[in-house]
Amino acid sequence: MIVSAERKAGEQILHAHNVIANNKTDARNVVTEYDTGIQQMLIETFSTALPDAHFFCEEMASPDSLDAEHTFIIDPIDGTMNFVKGFHHSCVSTAYMNRGVISAAAIYNPYADEMFTAIIGKGAWLNGEKLKIENVSLAESVVCFGSAPYYRDTRDRTLAMIRAALDIGLDIRREGSAALDLCSVAAGRSGVFFEMLLSFWDFAAGMLIATEAGAEVRTVDGGPLPATGEKSSVLCGAPAAVRDFLALGI
Ligand code: IPD
Ligand code: CA
Repeated sequence: MIVSAERKAGEQILHAHNVIANNKTDARNVVTEYDTGIQQMLIETFSTALPDAHFFCEEMASPDSLDAEHTFIIDPIDGTMNFVKGFHHSCVSTAYMNRGVISAAAIYNPYADEMFTAIIGKGAWLNGEKLKIENVSLAESVVCFGSAPYYRDTRDRTLAMIRAALDIGLDIRREGSAALDLCSVAAGRSGVFFEMLLSFWDFAAGMLIATEAGAEVRTVDGGPLPATGEKSSVLCGAPAAVRDFLALGI
């Protein structure tokens, strides 16, 4: 159900026209009618299947609490700035939570026609192929990062980490969708991803997909990544690369 709904959403992203960005807080933090329309379509689809479902979504004034039997965490378009500017690197991200535990996830990149899925305890897949990462070190990793564009006070630390990643790793990338960055770790493309502050809908689905592919998911200080709805920093990667990154003490 999640997969087919996300494919339908992907069609809307691919055929979008006259995309108008409206400021949420300022010109960096924007929403389009595609974000709200896709979110509405996903909510209607999931509510039809599970009438008592709760929702915790990006374009929602007051998201539901997360302790219900069925809760969907939805980011209708992750990478909205990419979408607005035509970078063709965005996705639809949904996590399904069962009584507070993220139990299933799907992230769809319509431009690449890549569907990442995971089921807790069973594994993660890309277009049906099982994912299992290699335990690469930081020196063997392309490092992806997010710039936490809405949080000015995180920038010095972000830049220090970028500098270390460039000095020690193979190269760096800033691709513009945290959900897809987590999938890049799960697919073994990137050895590490970090961002100083993300919302729960940015990382809920990706954290399960990456974990089920064998990656480690933490905060940038090495603590457990909260699945309680709060914002958090995220550090995700091959266990060896995460260990190397934390050992830098930045
Ligand atoms: C953003 C993207 C971006 C990340 C930001 C997020 P949005 O989500 O994931 O890569 O750097 O922190 O807010 O606004 O495009 O859904
Ligand atoms: Ca997002």
